[in-house]
Amino acid sequence: MVISLRAKLIGSFVMVTCITGFVATAIGVRQIGRVMAEEVQTKVRNDLNTARELYNEKAGRIKDFVQYAAQRPQVRKGLLQGDRAALSAELQQLRQAKQTLDVLTLTDADGVVVVRECNPDNSGDDQSDDELVIQALTRREVVVGTQIVPREELLKESSALARRAHIQFRETPRARPRAETEETSGMMIKAAAPVVDDGGRLLGVLYGGTLLNQDFELVDKIKATVYQAVKYKGKDIGTATIFQDDLRISTNVQREDGSRAVGTRISEEVYDAVVREGQSWFARAFVVNAWYRTAYEPIRDIQGKIIGILYVGILEEPYIDLQRNMLWAFLGVTFAGMACAVGISYFLADGIVRPVRHLVAASKRLAEGDLGSRVEVSSADEMGELGRTFNRMAASLHERDIEVKQLAQEKIMESSRLATLGQLAAGVAHELNNPLGSILIYSTLLLEEPPAGGPARENLEKIVREATRCKGIVRGLLDFARESEPKKAPNDLNELIERTLALIENQAAFQNIQVVKKFSEGLPKVMADGGQLQQVFMNILLNAAEAMGEGGKLTVSTWVLGDGDRVEARFEDTGHGIAPEHMPRLFDPFFTTKEVGKGTGLGLSISYGIVEAHGGRIHVESEPGRGSVFCVLLPTQEEAR
Ligand SMILES: Nc1ncnc2c1ncn2[C@@H]1O[C@H](COP(=O)(O)OP(=O)(O)O)[C@@H](O)[C@H]1O
Ligand SMILES: [Mg+2]
Repeated sequence: MVISLRAKLIGSFVMVTCITGFVATAIGVRQIGRVMAEEVQTKVRNDLNTARELYNEKAGRIKDFVQYAAQRPQVRKGLLQGDRAALSAELQQLRQAKQTLDVLTLTDADGVVVVRECNPDNSGDDQSDDELVIQALTRREVVVGTQIVPREELLKESSALARRAHIQFRETPRARPRAETEETSGMMIKAAAPVVDDGGRLLGVLYGGTLLNQDFELVDKIKATVYQAVKYKGKDIGTATIFQDDLRISTNVQREDGSRAVGTRISEEVYDAVVREGQSWFARAFVVNAWYRTAYEPIRDIQGKIIGILYVGILEEPYIDLQRNMLWAFLGVTFAGMACAVGISYFLADGIVRPVRHLVAASKRLAEGDLGSRVEVSSADEMGELGRTFNRMAASLHERDIEVKQLAQEKIMESSRLATLGQLAAGVAHELNNPLGSILIYSTLLLEEPPAGGPARENLEKIVREATRCKGIVRGLLDFARESEPKKAPNDLNELIERTLALIENQAAFQNIQVVKKFSEGLPKVMADGGQLQQVFMNILLNAAEAMGEGGKLTVSTWVLGDGDRVEARFEDTGHGIAPEHMPRLFDPFFTTKEVGKGTGLGLSISYGIVEAHGGRIHVESEPGRGSVFCVLLPTQEEAR
């Protein structure tokens, strides 16, 4: 599958933002959540302190009041005089002043009840086994504490009190299993104060208390003080509870229907920690029907026995919601970032992809032969550099193309010129051939007839000589015009050159010339007309000899080119060389620099024709004054076939 550059760019941008976004979200939300949880937990811990203060304050007030009441002269006097009616009236008055008291009872010095304010008809029972009464009697000072009061004791005070204490258990998830289904005893904050006469003699004990069961004054005060009754989605954020053992007897935690969750019980794990092990509990806990950040601590009776629990808790939901909102906010930012990334990378990709596309299109046009194809360069960056380089490349290709075309044109022109010249020469040669033949025949005949000597004979001899020379020229012209087709056969290049050299080496022109042969062994054969090639080599060798009039060195070498498909013969002389202006005309028929009668200017043009007819090439390099090099390149036998 091919993924476009743009898709890759956009993909990587999005991936990077996506990864960083989600990692930041995960870390951020976690971290903030943790800090928040810690903060909330610390707050709850402090709230528990406040709740305890309020609890103790309430106990303190009861204690103060009971002490104050015990010191009332009417109480003392009533006890001394055994005036129950007066005492009853006094207690009634006192309890009216302090309405939060559920119980106010006076015993004598033995702990036997003298007057029971709530139930004046019921007296004479012994309270001397009550822990607080014992303490007040023995230590002669006021004591306060929380106490579990059994049902029969409550009944002594009033049946209404016993009814208030009576709580039916409600089904609570996570609570510890219990065989009981109801609670009949009550939990009371109770104070007891000794009544002493002026002489310091103990007259009796006054005790009073408030039943906590279904009395919501304290928990609501805690809630109001600590949480200002803030609500979240209809639920109180902060809650407080007093437990009797594991039972909610006073609470503002609500059940689903909005009623107080009295009668529900504490979850077992918290119970184990707080009641069984006597530890405080600061953690998340499931309270009735929701998760709270909570703090619990044991409530102990005067002997230090754990009889209940004080609880405060903050609803976790607002913080969870906050955390969730934060998560959404983070995710929102992440998605916005991703959208930005898509947008930015789209434009960026466009900036990269567009020039690339142009480049590709321009390259295609170039490949299809439109050498004028260029790209628009609009930037100074690497893309721009690439574009400029492409344009440079296209421009130089164009130039090269023009040069090559020109060269080809020149070549075509040259060969057509040579062909025209050849035709012309051939025509002239044909026309001249016959009259020349006649001249030769008749002049030769004439030369045979008259006796030797005399100027006429001398002239006749000149005619024959010149006519013969003309015949030679005409022959050459006909050769040049390729009147005679080459008769091709496999030939060894070295052998052909060797034979040609043998023919001319002994001529006078070669006397001062050193011939060096550098033949490669085992050359592939060339498919050629041996005679014609010999003629070519002869022309080249003679020209070389003529160029080295005073003597010199002629180096003849042969070798294979390419992978054996061509062979080359190279003739290097140390002659006078060729003037650059003569170069283009070297192979023209009749081009010669030699004096009249010496050169015909046909040698090279004939050689050119022969080599071309063999599918080969001939070329020259020369340095005037130093020498010339003629190279003959021929296809080998395989090629020629
Ligand atoms: N080896 C060479 N060194 C210098 N000039 C050369 C050489 N070969 C050929 N030429 C030049 O090329 C001209 C043409 O040669 P060619 O066609 O053989 O005619 P010709 O030899 O009759 O002049 C010569 O006149 C000479 O000027
Ligand atoms: Mg010549």
